[in-house]
Amino acid sequence: VLIFLNGRLVPEHRARVSVFDRGFLYGDGLFETVRVCQGRPFRWAQHLERFQRGAEFLGIRPPFTPGEWLAAARRLIVRNRRPEALLRLTLSRGVGVRGYSPAGADSPTLMLSLHPLPGGPAPKWKLITTSHRLPPATSLARFKTANKLAQILARAEADTAGADEALLRDARGRIAEGTAGNLFWISRDAVCTPPLAAGILPGVTRAVVLEICRDLKIKVRERSPRPGELAAAQGVFLTLSSRGIVEAVALDGRPLRRSPVTRQLRQAHERLLHAETA
Ligand SMILES: Cc1ncc(COP(=O)(O)O)c(C=O)c1O
Repeated sequence: VLIFLNGRLVPEHRARVSVFDRGFLYGDGLFETVRVCQGRPFRWAQHLERFQRGAEFLGIRPPFTPGEWLAAARRLIVRNRRPEALLRLTLSRGVGVRGYSPAGADSPTLMLSLHPLPGGPAPKWKLITTSHRLPPATSLARFKTANKLAQILARAEADTAGADEALLRDARGRIAEGTAGNLFWISRDAVCTPPLAAGILPGVTRAVVLEICRDLKIKVRERSPRPGELAAAQGVFLTLSSRGIVEAVALDGRPLRRSPVTRQLRQAHERLLHAETA
């Protein structure tokens, strides 16, 4: 497998970064996961925008222009012959002085890699609610930073419980999102999802689902569910670039109801994915 590292395509075993890279030392960086379909990255502009705004917020100057990012992604997809894949973009501040000061770290590390798509039929996930909370809503929450410890611990709790994904609460104790996906549920024929103000990641797939709802004239409500509320929902699903729309079938060991709206949205998402990358 070829990796794009700092401007060059290199075999995976030769793709190396410094042990003093601040991404490794402090999680001082950002990433994106993008679905590649028919050789093209889906919703590329939206992913790149979040990525670039994040870099700007952290004060990391990406060494590439948007056009160069896309050219690098295309080269990687073609050279690896992987038209159906996940593309990960990783940017770290690179190497600087010892300690937290970013001073002198002005040569960012930039890496693009491709990964196989999770295979099999439409996934159905068992969820748990965890004791881990999202940090209080800060500007940092708007970006996909390389700091994911709350999510990692929550996901480990799900693994131990034999579940597929864990739901985290926000600072007020309301359910906010999954470790790697945005939360939706269906209640009284409206599609509901927590607002961005809850401190969740503004997911690219979340935005796609809101767009589809608007097109299909499905009512949308943005609010945060109380613990217990999801158990009574007509249906629950998560959204993430790597899997699209994933139906939840159980929460904390109890089965969830399943709504035809989830299937309808899933099909609309698949259609959009193929139409936009054709
Ligand atoms: C915490 C969190 N929320 C939501 C998402 C979904 O975002 P997107 O639809 O942009 O993949 C992710 C994706 O990894 C995530 O890490």
